[in-house]
Amino acid sequence: MTDMPPGSRIVLRNTLREHESPFDLAKDARDGLTAVPRTLPSKYFYDARGSHLFEMITRLPEYYLTRAETEILQRESGRFVETSRPRVLVEFGSGAARKTRILLDAMRERGLLEGYGPVDVSVDASRRAAQALIRDYPDMVVEGVIGDFERPRNLPFSGRPRLIAFLGSTIGNLETVQAQAFLEAVRAEMTGADAFLIGFDLVKEATVLERAYNDAAGVTARFNLNVLRVLNRELGASFDLEAFRHRAEWNAGRSRVEMHLESLREQRILIPAIGLDVTVREGETIRTELSHKYTRESAEMLLGSSGLALESWCTDEARRFALALARAPR
Ligand code: SAH
Ligand code: TRP
Repeated sequence: MTDMPPGSRIVLRNTLREHESPFDLAKDARDGLTAVPRTLPSKYFYDARGSHLFEMITRLPEYYLTRAETEILQRESGRFVETSRPRVLVEFGSGAARKTRILLDAMRERGLLEGYGPVDVSVDASRRAAQALIRDYPDMVVEGVIGDFERPRNLPFSGRPRLIAFLGSTIGNLETVQAQAFLEAVRAEMTGADAFLIGFDLVKEATVLERAYNDAAGVTARFNLNVLRVLNRELGASFDLEAFRHRAEWNAGRSRVEMHLESLREQRILIPAIGLDVTVREGETIRTELSHKYTRESAEMLLGSSGLALESWCTDEARRFALALARAPR
């Protein structure tokens, strides 16, 4: 299904409602809310409001990730593009695609840029980003997918040399086994002409990490609570947003920040549409997000276990964040 008129320079194929799409809020909510511990997948954060709140997170003083990654992209994009000479950029979890422009500019300056293929679950963010990009890049087409990147099949622009980007340390939001499976699936789609650029947030002091996910202005808290709003709207759930509190904690043993919604009192959660009736105790939590932090060694291990070969590794000056350029050995 495409939702743009013929002749338009934007095609966004919406795969969210396709048969066997892994984007199934009813099933995931039922499974997650009855699991021990209770969880909700983070991909449901990103309705229009959630995507907007995420953009606000990227500008927070505590949230260093976006600035650190931008610094690396500004310094290294020319080199990334020179080494692989891609004609198109494919991007997973593209969102507002702001940092993306640094890569697109580097391609355009070298006369290489033909197309951009974003893959994201957010309908709103995908449409907005595509509209803004065709305006600013008049010689480029957008052929994207609104869908779950965990099934990276039939990626845009097969047959052309692609730079594939996965920025923002979104890789860190996947459980390690899922990250490995995802990378392996992408690798299976890559040809020898493709290069894969992946952003990893690096292990650092616990206080810096916890502050990044628990900002003073409370934007991350609003972002986290937004998933309950999505459930109320989409499934007719009865979550009282005042009865939950955002919590972010560094788990050193598993090298990840874990985000939760903590119940402030004992409460009953009713979602008749999916036959759910659970009682959540005071202090009990629903885990909504994981954000794994890497070292060069652990990132290289992850890439290697997925059959990818690390070609270059660059960090920002302060060594907070890294961009890995990888290839699929033939
Ligand atoms: N690349 C941007 C946005 C990162 S936020 C940046 O670096 O700032 C994560 C993005 O991934 C959001 O746009 C969200 O909509 C998207 N996303 C999250 N889970 C997804 C999934 N399973 N499949 C596709 N997109 C997903
Ligand atoms: N991938 C980024 C990170 O882990 C962005 C992100 C995803 C995020 N989910 C989040 C940021 C939840 C704050 C809260 O930091």
